[in-house]
Amino acid sequence: MKNKAIGVFDSGIGGLTVYKALKEKLPDEKVIYLGDTARLPYGTKSAETIIKFSEGNALFLLTKSVKIIVVACNSASSYALPYLQNKFDIPVVGVIEPGAEAAVHAGKAKIGIIGTVATIKSGAYEKAIIEKKPGARVLSKACPLFVPLVEEGWIEHKVTRLVIEEYLLPLKEQGIGTLVLGCTHYPVLKEVIAEVLGKEIKLIDSALTTAKKVYAILKSLGWIGESGNPVDDEFFVTDFPERFKQVGEIFLGRKIDKVTAASFYTVSLPQA
Ligand code: DGL
Repeated sequence: MKNKAIGVFDSGIGGLTVYKALKEKLPDEKVIYLGDTARLPYGTKSAETIIKFSEGNALFLLTKSVKIIVVACNSASSYALPYLQNKFDIPVVGVIEPGAEAAVHAGKAKIGIIGTVATIKSGAYEKAIIEKKPGARVLSKACPLFVPLVEEGWIEHKVTRLVIEEYLLPLKEQGIGTLVLGCTHYPVLKEVIAEVLGKEIKLIDSALTTAKKVYAILKSLGWIGESGNPVDDEFFVTDFPERFKQVGEIFLGRKIDKVTAASFYTVSLPQA
């Protein structure tokens, strides 16, 4: 197992925040990344559709013989994680649990959660937080405009700052002490969000917390890759590799040289 790759999937490009965090924490691991760019966004889709797409993505990664699957997409983690964990024999890790754990650990009375419409509607973060800290006060808000702003590269832009103020100042006024960045794209806006909200509100980057969780799981299984192995990560997308290469730079601060087109796997869910 040690020398097998870590599989990561996302609805598209935002999962590169999780990829980047994984590479910082586990630099000797090979990562195989799948972005389902043909079917994104997931954040506006139903639970059933997100589960179907997620299963297809996991099946694709399994054809590459990965040792663990990381569901980088918050919307997919919110709906599909138990289904995938049940279905497959290898560990499947999502972003919700690690983010919720870090939020509780921060120890503030009121916790804010932001994410896509799907993630917020699922209540997944809220549920995970309350399980860990019964009685915790959680305020949730969907911030759907952040994803296109990030993909446009408008990070320090005045329009983005205005949108951040519009979405997040009401949460600040309600007294949150911690804010979970519950979407793949939001860590890219972390500095601007911190400027708008001020230092007293602690931001939880679910990409970083997930990378720590993956490290802990691999370590406990004795599956950490041997250092010194050549690491040749692979990127697959279900549509438009060129756009992924270009926009990828916003997330990684560097161009991605090789992105390969992959067909998406369509699966039908068993009838309930
Ligand atoms: N990756 C998605 C998430 O973290 C954001 C983009 C989308 O809606 O597909 O929820």
